[in-house]
Formats: sequence, C-alpha cells, structure tokens
Amino acid sequence: MNKKTILAVDVGTGMVKVFAGKLQADGTVDILGSGTAPTAGYEKGVITDVNALTHSIRQAVDCVIMAVDEQMTDCVYLGISGSTLVTQNSIGSVAVTTPETITPQDIERACKAATFEIEQDKYEILHVFAARNSLAKTGEAVEVEAHIVAVPKDILGEISHALKESGLTLNCIIAGDIMAAETIKKELPGKPENFIFMDIGAGTTDFVMYVGGNPCFSASLPLGGDYITNDLMQGLTVNRAHAEEIKRYYSRLSSDLRNQGVVLDCNDYGTTDKHVSYDFLYDIIESRVDEIVGLVYDYIKPRLSQYVTENGQTLERIYLTGGSGAMPSMASRIANVFQINTEMVKPVHLPVEYAQPANTVCYGIIDYGARVLASEPVVGKSAWDVLIRKAKKLLKIC
Ligand SMILES: Nc1ncnc2c1ncn2[C@@H]1O[C@H](COP(=O)(O)OP(=O)(O)OP(=O)(O)O)[C@@H](O)[C@H]1O
Ligand SMILES: [Mg+2]
Repeated sequence: MNKKTILAVDVGTGMVKVFAGKLQADGTVDILGSGTAPTAGYEKGVITDVNALTHSIRQAVDCVIMAVDEQMTDCVYLGISGSTLVTQNSIGSVAVTTPETITPQDIERACKAATFEIEQDKYEILHVFAARNSLAKTGEAVEVEAHIVAVPKDILGEISHALKESGLTLNCIIAGDIMAAETIKKELPGKPENFIFMDIGAGTTDFVMYVGGNPCFSASLPLGGDYITNDLMQGLTVNRAHAEEIKRYYSRLSSDLRNQGVVLDCNDYGTTDKHVSYDFLYDIIESRVDEIVGLVYDYIKPRLSQYVTENGQTLERIYLTGGSGAMPSMASRIANVFQINTEMVKPVHLPVEYAQPANTVCYGIIDYGARVLASEPVVGKSAWDVLIRKAKKLLKIC
C-alpha cells in the first residue's frame, strides 16, 4: 500500500461518490480521480441493506481505480451521515488544573467525561466537540457541553466486515457532513464563528450549527431533492431518469420566464408529447422547495434560540451545499424564511471538474484523510484517541 493514498467515500442517498487522492508534501491532496455508482441499501439517511450498500461502494471504487489505473483498496475513509449516526449533547464536568483558568487540557478531560453518558458497549464515538464551556461558581471546575457523534457498533462491524469481504479495508468511518463543514470553515473568508452549514442532497438535509467557531448541534432530516423528482414523475408521467433531466433543465432557466406563456420541450428519447409550460414546472418544483425549506426551518428554529439567541449571539450566515442546494431558488428561499444571508458553497479549490456542490462532502472526507495521514490534530478527536490510533497502527490492529 502507498501510505499516502486516500479513498474518500461519501455515501449519499442518490449516489456513492469516491475521490482518490494522494497526500502531497505540503499537506494538500492531489485528486487523482473520482468515481460514482447509484446507491442501493441506503434510504433517506438509513442503512437498509449493508451488503447492497457495500456493493455500490465497491462499484464506485472500481470506477475510480479504473480511472487512476492504480490498485488502492486499503485506505478507505468512509463518510456517512443521516440517522445512521447518533448525535447527542452531554455535559462533562472536571476540576480545573489552575483555579479560575480553563486550559485546552481541562476542556478535553471534560469532553471525555461527557462521553461517559454514551453507552460505549453499543456505540463507537466518532467525534466529540466542545460546544460551550463555563467555569462552575467556585472557579474550581469546568463544565463543558459536548456535541457527540457516534455510530452503533453493530452497524460499524457489519460495514467493516462487508467491505473487507469485497476487498476493501476500512481505515475509518466519519460523519461526512460535519467534516465537510470543518473543511469549508477553514476556507471561508472572514472566519465566521456563528453559522449553519447545510447540505441538501437527494434524500436528506444535513446541517451543522456553529456557535463561537464550534459545532454545537448537528442533525439530519429526511428531506431532499428526491421529493421534487417524485412529484415531477407523477405530474408529467415520466420515469425517474427523465424527471431528473427535466429538473436540471429547469434549474438552468431564469425565473423571468414565469407568466410569459413559455412552453418547454422536455422530451427525451422515446417521448414526443412532453411539451410542458414553464409555469407548470415552476408550480410543481417551487411548491416543493417551499415545503422543504419550511420543514427545515421549523426544525432548526428552536435550536437557533437555544444555542444562538439565548447565548447573546447572532447567526452570521447559512452556507448551503449539496446537489439540491445548488438549485437557484433554494438559497433565496432559505434566506427569506430564515432571514439570514445564505450563500452557496462548493469545493472551489478542486479542479473545475470536481468543484460541484454535490462533491463538497467527499472533499471534506478526503481533507480529513489528508489531515490524519499528515498526523495533524483533527478536530473532534481527542489527543488520547489519536494516540490510541497510532498505537493500534503500530501494532497493526487497526
Ligand atoms: N443542477 C441541479 N438542479 C437541480 N437538482 C440537482 C442538480 N444537480 C443535482 N441535483 C439534485 O441533487 C440531488 C443529489 O445531490 P447529492 O449528490 O448531494 O445527494 P446525495 O449525497 O446522493 O444524497 P443525500 O446527501 O441526501 O443522502 C438529487 O436530488 C439531484 O436531482
Ligand atoms: Mg450527500
């Protein structure tokens, strides 16, 4: 194995996406190639069939291996999201080493204490973030609210086993969206501290809320672009692939076409009768966009009060990504409903063929892999975890 190669796998509802990359001396990654395969065994953020999902992952990896002409199967960084992951905020409290002072080591110990609330025989903890901290009244103890992300151990075991059977070695599993948020955060101008990173894909809307520069809350809602595609399938009596084409065609058009009596030729191979008025498409698509944004807002609003407003903070911006986040009306609708500036983000530092909003998560995963390989400290992993990892690697049990 070339120790500097990374296979970043993003398990999405629509597609499994893979980036193959090589770590460079300056710590950056060169993308060697990418591969995709339609996802099976994973619906709206829930793994329904591990073997079918593994088959999809293997297909996407094979695409990339063919493209880069290099055997790289033992360096898989698997990013998952959705409700396969368990997220929880817990309080950990420890005595401070120096009275009235909170050191990073104190925060780390308090985070560790917070994880004791998680049933560690059932869950593998993936990431722990210090969401907020305060000194206890006496000034001798620090209390930390930690945002903890875990995966059920049985699911982790099944995935790891199934990947191994298919000839792939799982290096580690991570929360793809949170790591993408961490990567994008580093690249944002002005270093915003209070913001929401939101990834709207095919089946889920995943978001991470940052306060004071730290992830303090994350969740996944079963809402995505598939709703729009399904409505188009019914409304226009077309198959899924055709509906996807029509949706993308519509997305390229200006909404100035509304109320102009414009009729679009939406025919594909095998159809001749799909001449559809722009207004009809607008009504189907935009009513679904409204519904998705409304439901996301209803879910996030109480968390905004709890984590942002009640702490005297103001949300600066929403950073939107994901295939459905790229729809022209999505950002403006979110900005209207949330009353917060909303901006679309994508992996702008990648070569143009990869710099799509649907690739942001895969980019975050490969960036995480690069930081692990370069042995940089990785946010959401304690020094203790990194030490254990290194020891396991040395002993070749990981
Ligand atoms: N140009 C576009 N216009 C409209 N929708 C688009 C466009 N490009 C992609 N999409 C939609 O984005 C969705 C796919 O996005 P993405 O690849 O981020 O999802 P995923 O990662 O597979 O799923 P999820 O993250 O929800 O599990 C599909 O619903 C697709 O129709
Ligand atoms: Mg996705």
